[in-house]
Formats: sequence, C-alpha cells, structure tokens
Amino acid sequence: MYEDFETQEAVPEAASMIETFRAIGYSLETAVADIIDNSITAGAKHVTIHRFWDGGKTIITIKDDGAGMTNDELIHAMRPGAQNPLIERDEKDLGRFGLGLKTASFSQCRKLTVISKKNKKVSYWTWDLDFVAECKKWKLVHWCLDTFKDSLNDVSSGTIVIWSELDRVIPTRTDNTNEVEKEKFSKAMEKVRDHIAMTFHRFIEDKQISIIWGSHAILPWNPFCPSESKRQSFPVDYLSGGVTLTGVVLPHKLNFSNETAFHQAEGPNGWSGQQGFYVYRGKRLLLSGDWLGLFRKEECYKLARIAIDLPNSQDAKWQIDIKKSKAYPPSYCREQIEQYARKVRLYAEEVFRHRGKILKQRAGQQFYPLWLEKRKDSSWSYVINRDNPLIIHFKKLAETNPSEAINQMLLLVESNVPTKVIFYNEAKDENMHDTYKMLDEVTIHQTAKALYDSFISQDKSPLQAKALLKIIEPFNYFEDLIDSL
Ligand SMILES: Nc1ncnc2c1ncn2[C@@H]1O[C@H](COP(=O)(O)OP(=O)(O)O)[C@@H](O)[C@H]1O
Ligand SMILES: [Mg+2]
Repeated sequence: MYEDFETQEAVPEAASMIETFRAIGYSLETAVADIIDNSITAGAKHVTIHRFWDGGKTIITIKDDGAGMTNDELIHAMRPGAQNPLIERDEKDLGRFGLGLKTASFSQCRKLTVISKKNKKVSYWTWDLDFVAECKKWKLVHWCLDTFKDSLNDVSSGTIVIWSELDRVIPTRTDNTNEVEKEKFSKAMEKVRDHIAMTFHRFIEDKQISIIWGSHAILPWNPFCPSESKRQSFPVDYLSGGVTLTGVVLPHKLNFSNETAFHQAEGPNGWSGQQGFYVYRGKRLLLSGDWLGLFRKEECYKLARIAIDLPNSQDAKWQIDIKKSKAYPPSYCREQIEQYARKVRLYAEEVFRHRGKILKQRAGQQFYPLWLEKRKDSSWSYVINRDNPLIIHFKKLAETNPSEAINQMLLLVESNVPTKVIFYNEAKDENMHDTYKMLDEVTIHQTAKALYDSFISQDKSPLQAKALLKIIEPFNYFEDLIDSL
C-alpha cells in the first residue's frame, strides 16, 4: 500500500491507554453484567457472584461453568480488542467489541485475574494496571492469589474472573472496620443484584442460566409482569430488520393481584423511572425504562412499558455501544416507534387517570364528589362541590355550632385535597391552576367588605383595615378592589 513511503510505529502508550479504558463510563452493575455476558456466551449453566469485604482489599469474583479457555485462548481473551467488532457474530453471542472483559474490569479495579479451565487444564493470567504503567508495556503476569488457585476444582470446565484493588468502588486505603464504606459497598452490590435480576430475566426465566448471589439464586425481575391478569398487552408491531415492538400497560395499583406484586413491579428506579422502552438484544436487556429521546417521562405514563426486540445483526444500525447500555433507533423507524408508543402511552394515561380519580361519576349510581375540577380558559381549578351532602350538613351545623362546623369542614377539605388529579393536570398542561381566577368579583367584594366592616368595628382605621386585607389570601390578589372599598 505505502511501499514507497517511510513508516514509523506509533504504539499506544500503555499508561494513558489504561486511563482511556477506565473512563468508558461503566457503572459497577453494567460492568458485572458485561462479565456475565461472557459466561452466557460460553454456555454456562451457573454463574456465581461472591464478594469478600476487606476494606480497600475487597474482592469480587464472578465464576461460571461454561466452556472455559485454554492457555492460548485466555491470553487472546485478555488482549484488549481481541476481536474485530465488524466480524459477524453468532446470534447467541452477547459480545461485540472484544473489549468487555477488559474495559468492564478496569473500569472498577486495578487488578484483573482470570482463571480458566478447559480440557482439564487450568490456566491463569493477571492484568495489573500498576505493573503495566510501571513497565510501560502491555504485559500480563502469570500470577494469581493463592486462595483462588483451586476455585475451579468443582467444575469440569469454566472460568472465574477476579477483581481486586477495586479503587473505583472502595477507596484504596479503606480499613476493613470502616462501617460507612462497608455499608456503601453493600448498597452498591444490592444495585448490582437488582440490575442482574432485570438484565438477564429472560435467561433466568427460561432456566438457561442460574445466577447465584452468595448462596441464593437471583430471581428474575420481568418489567412486563406477565402474571398480572389485568395488564393490557398491545399487538406486536414489526419494524424493518426483524425488530419488534410490544407494548404493555401495567394495571393500576388497585388492580394488581396484591400489594407485594405492585411493589415488586416498581423496579430498581421506581415507578416513574421505569416507564418507557426496554431494548433487548435477543434475551439480553440492554436498556431499561427510557423513552429514547422521543418523549419525556411523566407521572401519568408510569404504567407504560414497551419492549423493543433487536436481533444482534442490528447492533450497528441501533448504535449499540461498548457498554451495551445505550441504543439509538435509526431515523427510518423513529416515526413508527413514536406512533406505536403514543397509543400505549394514551392507554397508560387512561388507566392512571381513571383509577387515580376521585371525581368521576360511577356508572348507574348517583355520586357526590367533594371536589370538582373545572377548566376555564385553559387553566384548571378545583372547587368544593356545594351539593355534596356533607357540605349541606356543615351548613346546618353552622346554624347551631358555627365553630364546630368550620372545624369539621376544614378537616374534611384538608384530608381530601385531590393531589393526584392536580399533579396529573399540571404534568399534562404547563398551565398553572389558579383558583382565584374562578372567584367572581361580586363574591370577593362581598366577603372583603364584610371583613373590612368587622375590622372597622374593631376600631381599625380604614387604611389599617385595607392593609390587613391585603395580607390575607385570597384578597392579596385583588388590591384594586380593596382600595375601592
Ligand atoms: N467466561 C468466559 N468463558 C469463556 N470465554 C470467555 C469468557 N470471558 C471471555 N471469554 C473469551 O474472551 C473473549 C473476549 O471477551 P470480551 O473482552 O468480553 O469481548 P467480547 O465479549 O466482545 O468478545 C470472548 O470473545 C471469549 O472468547
Ligand atoms: Mg464480552
């Protein structure tokens, strides 16, 4: 190609390459998930995750009983960029860039040891980032912690990934008696567990793999709650390239089979956070609860979840990133996705609104809401229904015991503010509700005048009386009217 030209090798400088690798932006949970991907691709039936708290010397291990690697294969696997991302991958292969093992590990720790067993032979190699930086060469070390040398004795083949010096998770000098750091680590690991339950739920449900957390198998978390009979599934829609959309609107809280099921369905990021698309590549969940920039997350759509299923041949078109935690729908199918999602969202809004609503008339029976929502000139207001029998009762009570009547009425109003409906309307419309706009001037004038007269009778001067009125809600909104008294 360039036979007639001088060439010069420009090998990437090891220390700075490492820092680049470390900055790819994995979280602890996405990093662990990437390691589990490799185990699944290697045909593992069991993956076991252990954590050994020891302050700054804490260790995390991820072990599988998959195919394992020979010594040469292991050395190759430890090489950054072991495979060309452009090479077509097997449908079941969860890898792509040939980087996951290294980048996911380095994003969390300074020392990565992999021990692997294949054909009854155990091999191990370690990347020690401090050593690489020191000798300025990408050199593996044939070293492994003695405690883990025998960890593959109980499997005929398999691999264990050992992360130590987890400087990105626990500060290096942390003492093992540091309870604060210990608690933080334990919280971070709970997040990892929840992320695994979600990311690999299809594999776990299909019994393709069992992921063991210490001593228990992780239970799958399926965002679509398939066993809830009152959920609404939408017909599948097909996009080009074999991509499918499947929308589900989860039942309203009152219609979940039970309270525990409702709380479980909420998911790691809470009800509002988990709404949106769930992008799967094969059985693997890449992205969860995200409207992919097409819509905003809003409270009223929290019951809407839509699965997007991609075959892995679509990686490039959907711009799947190294961390497998991002995806971008190609422009030619955005419109179709948007249309589909609109329908699902609309239905989700109905379910949320109808069931969260106190104001709606029940079919076939007289119903007396306490609050009425009114819309005038594109703004909402909420007024007490004067025909509600309780209000009539208070009026009667006021004839004999006014202070008790007022007290009871205030209590009733305070305990029944229709916050859900107000919140919903606000989220939907930018317009603020402004109840005072709804008050007619005659009523305000009458009430203001009555109060003004009472102040005067209490020996206040007209100026003082007006000044007092102006600091009492809602008269503060009607300065001109008060001045004219
Ligand atoms: N747990 C494992 N069992 C068997 N082989 C593995 C395992 N982890 C990694 N490998 C091998 O190492 C290679 C590189 O892995 P990785 O860096 O994650 O990149 P990718 O998964 O994109 O290929 C894999 O393609 C696989 O051949
Ligand atoms: Mg991988």
